[in-house]
Parts: sequence; structure tokens; C-alpha cells
Amino acid sequence: MVTNNPDLDRVLISQAQIAERVKSIAAQVAKDYDNVDNLYMVGILKGAFIFLADLARELQVSHSVDFMAVSSYGKTATTSGEVRLVLDLREPIIDKHVLIVEDIVDTGHTLNYLLKTLRGRQPKSLKTCVLVRKERDSLDINVDYLGFTIPDVWVVGYGLDYADSYRTLPYIAELNKRVYSK
Ligand code: PRP
Repeated sequence: MVTNNPDLDRVLISQAQIAERVKSIAAQVAKDYDNVDNLYMVGILKGAFIFLADLARELQVSHSVDFMAVSSYGKTATTSGEVRLVLDLREPIIDKHVLIVEDIVDTGHTLNYLLKTLRGRQPKSLKTCVLVRKERDSLDINVDYLGFTIPDVWVVGYGLDYADSYRTLPYIAELNKRVYSK
């Protein structure tokens, strides 16, 4: 599908495809957490805020929502990829069922850091839910709920940005190289 925005090459995942997938992930999550008191969903800012909002509203199981923010440097699979915590959770997660909600896994450094950090806080369970994962060399990280696998191109929309722009597009699109090679 093409768009009429000259900054975008093509729509990779349409609004309807996203909505359908979010619904089916929510159904799967609800099934898996049917017997737990409360699911503690942790959205990673900024990118995950739209996915988390839609997923949480589809979720037919008791849950609460919190946020973390990290900043990262060194976006290659071979560098150590320094990740720093910028905003932490409001509550301890000891003995909670925690689901990390991310928009994208690219190199995997961010999710790797989050898993290590949150595992150390002794949650009752810890799983990951990611909307899109790039087909590329990345750290070997288990994603429990994955929306889509996408080619290794720069994508924007539905929370994903370039220089903080394009986040609120309702679909996920490939950004034209001209925009980020300026
Ligand atoms: C993006 C995205 C993930 C991370 C994935 O965040 O939201 O958190 O990169 O990349 P990785 O797998 O290579 O670590 P970004 O640092 O762009 O911040 P943002 O969410 O605020 O846009």
C-alpha cells in the first residue's frame, strides 16, 4: 500500500491489520493470565504508549499499567549497546505477574536490559509482548507475544518515530531514506 505522504515509501502494516493483531494478542494474553489476580503491564516509553493503550483496552483480564523509559546508545547487535534507565516503575514488582510491552525489537539491547533489570526484582513471572521485530541479527531474546516480523528498514508510526515525529500515524510505514540521510 502506498501513502500520500512523500516521507513514507509504503505502508508495511495497515491500521486494520494492527487492530486485528492487537485483538488476537489480547485474547491470547487473557487466556494465559486467566488465573492470576492481576497482570502488571509495563509499557516502555515513548514508543510503546499507543500499543499499550490499545492492548490494555482489549484485555479482558484484571490488569494495571505502569511505565518505564530508557535511553540507548550504540544500536548494533555487536556493540554492547549501553542502555540507561530514565524513568522507573512506581511500585515494586516482587511477586507480581509482569508483562513488558514494547513497540519494537531492533538490536534487542533495550529488551535485554529490561529483562535483566526486572528479573532482579523477583517478579512472580516476567514475559514480553512486542508489536514488531526486525528480521536482522539481534540479541537472542525470547518474545512471548509478537505482533509482526518486519524487514530491516526504518519504520515509523503507531508509536515508532524518527526524531520524535510520525509517532501518531495510525499505521506502520517505511520511512524514505532521504528523510534520515539528510
Ligand atoms: C526504540 C524502541 C525500543 C528500542 C528498540 O526506542 O521503542 O525501546 O528502540 O531498539 P533495540 O532493540 O535496538 O534496543 P528509542 O530508543 O528510539 O526511544 P523511544 O521509544 O522513546 O522512541
